[in-house]
Amino acid sequence: MKIGICNDHAGYGYKVKLLALLGSKGYETVDFGTDSEVSVDYPDYAHKLAAAVESGAVDAGIALCGTGNGMAITLNKHQGIRAGLAWNSEIGRLVKAHNKANVLVLPARFISYQMATRIVGTWLSTPFEGGRHERRISKIPCKQ
Ligand code: RB5
Repeated sequence: MKIGICNDHAGYGYKVKLLALLGSKGYETVDFGTDSEVSVDYPDYAHKLAAAVESGAVDAGIALCGTGNGMAITLNKHQGIRAGLAWNSEIGRLVKAHNKANVLVLPARFISYQMATRIVGTWLSTPFEGGRHERRISKIPCKQ
């Protein structure tokens, strides 16, 4: 499984550690930046990750910024993206089981790194439940 990851300056530290962790567990990763703690604009990175998930260049994504909201708001502008913000393991489970989130968003300034690893592990190992949730997610894209 190939996982794309993006972050702004607030998410950089956790991103570096998550890349190493995912690699040690056998995941292939693609890093869309940013590559330091120098202040940047989160949409510049969120759009790159979203495009890669939508095109199938990566199977899923992880995005980190301070609150997670800037990344989530930007990612969810893309019709093929279901980006879910998670701040504990149960939300990480539900965002996959019920919402089939193809991008997990983490609020790096509001959770510990240990919590971030728990959320990522839960999100990756949880299957989508389908059923009524399939019907619901099929209604998410805007039809104009
Ligand atoms: C950066 O200071 C912060 O605004 C950003 O990481 C994020 O929280 C935005 O939603």
